[in-house]
Amino acid sequence: MALQIIVGAQWGDEGKGRMVDWLASQSDYVARFNGGDNAGHTVTIGSQIYKLHLLPSGIIHPNTIGMLGNGMVINPKSLLEEMDLLRAAGVTITSERLRISHAAHLITPAHQALDKAMEAARGKDNLGTTGRGIGPAYTDKASRSGLRVGDMLAPNFIDRLRSHIEKANHSLGLYGAPTLEIAPLLTVFESQCKILTPYIRDVSAELHQALASGKIVLAEGAQGTLLDIDHGSYPFVTSSATTAPGVLTGLGLGLDAAQNARVIGVAKAFQTRVGSGPFPSELSGELAGRLRGTGSNPWDEFGTTTGRPRRVGWLDGVLLRYAARINGLTELVMTKLDILSGFESLRICTAYRIGDMTLAELPFGQADLGSVEPVYIELPGWQADLGNIRRWDDLPVQAQGYLRTVTRLGGVPVRYASVGPEREQIVEVPALER
Ligand code: GDP
Ligand code: IMO
Ligand code: MG
Repeated sequence: MALQIIVGAQWGDEGKGRMVDWLASQSDYVARFNGGDNAGHTVTIGSQIYKLHLLPSGIIHPNTIGMLGNGMVINPKSLLEEMDLLRAAGVTITSERLRISHAAHLITPAHQALDKAMEAARGKDNLGTTGRGIGPAYTDKASRSGLRVGDMLAPNFIDRLRSHIEKANHSLGLYGAPTLEIAPLLTVFESQCKILTPYIRDVSAELHQALASGKIVLAEGAQGTLLDIDHGSYPFVTSSATTAPGVLTGLGLGLDAAQNARVIGVAKAFQTRVGSGPFPSELSGELAGRLRGTGSNPWDEFGTTTGRPRRVGWLDGVLLRYAARINGLTELVMTKLDILSGFESLRICTAYRIGDMTLAELPFGQADLGSVEPVYIELPGWQADLGNIRRWDDLPVQAQGYLRTVTRLGGVPVRYASVGPEREQIVEVPALER
């Protein structure tokens, strides 16, 4: 079995896209298993910056096949726009190279309108969703009234779509939000769906076959562990399984596929979060500004999907250890190590204080995250620019020390560190003691 899994070990935007791109050159299939166009995965190749929302990041490599699994929620309009953008950038996208699971769910304009209306109704307690209709689409899935990709092929699809929008209009009315005009929406949505027909496949069966014949399948996670519907900082989460076990249900693979799987957790060298919710090691003021950047560089901390400034803070070792456990990580990738250059000293959160108790783990997972005080260790910083470094031996000893500490705290070896957004800006890390 040759299943490799890449998941976010924090609150998303860890740099999964660039690592998928790195590993995709040796993969036959790259498969998304969760989420939808709430994801924004950046791949930088020279002056070309690709921002992928629905298509697997590996699609940029000409020899990989992209799969959109049943665990996803897919907005046909966004998908078609993204396909066009990538084609314009020279990437070949045909039904030979891209397959969409018949069992993935559709996101309609009604889901998007509901997402926005529900956020508005939450007022100051909003979740800070991406407004892409993710929550309402997964709600319909769980309540067994969703529209699936395979349904587009049925003769009664348009009737089902109409009754879905009528129902959504009723709910929008209750929220005091504008309702949708049904007839034009049906025509446009149906024509978008038709274009996608040749891409619909049994993704589960094809991937099973691929693994059985020794092919390499790379599963590309969206969002991150702390946004997982079950294991994240609920309710400030997304609506899907973002963690490694979600690969199996989200692609239709059995437990046998997970045996000996490589499970790679991607974590930034510091912590970021976009949207609402607890963030124990959050920084504000000048330090935050240094980690976030001003927005003048493409890699500064502003959302790939929404452009919102990301909240930033010191690396949280408690949450990293938690991510290692929930995902069964076999290795870690630490991205954006270059951003830590120039600090006199650096901090990593190693435990939490609640009252007079100091805890290395949260007693109920994420439940109490809003009420903890972080406990930090301080590490020496380094001044050198890391952007041109490609070998472990050339990293400043303080940067090596930082990665050793991360390995020890996370309980999982850091296998790669990235020192810039470009494809080649990666340093392989030798085996470090846990
Ligand atoms: P994803 O959602 O996990 O794929 O991450 P995003 O693409 O949303 O955000 C990561 C951002 O960091 C992107 O702008 C990447 O180009 C950038 N990036 C990734 N790795 C590095 C790195 O090592 N150094 C720097 N400076 N930028 C990086
Ligand atoms: P990638 O794959 C960072 C966050 C939103 C919000 C919460 C719920 O690029 O890492 P949703 O629209 O999913 O209902 O929003 O989840 N969120 C992300 N944050 N990276 C992402 O994806 C995210 N996808 C959703 O900001 O807090
Ligand atoms: Mg992102």
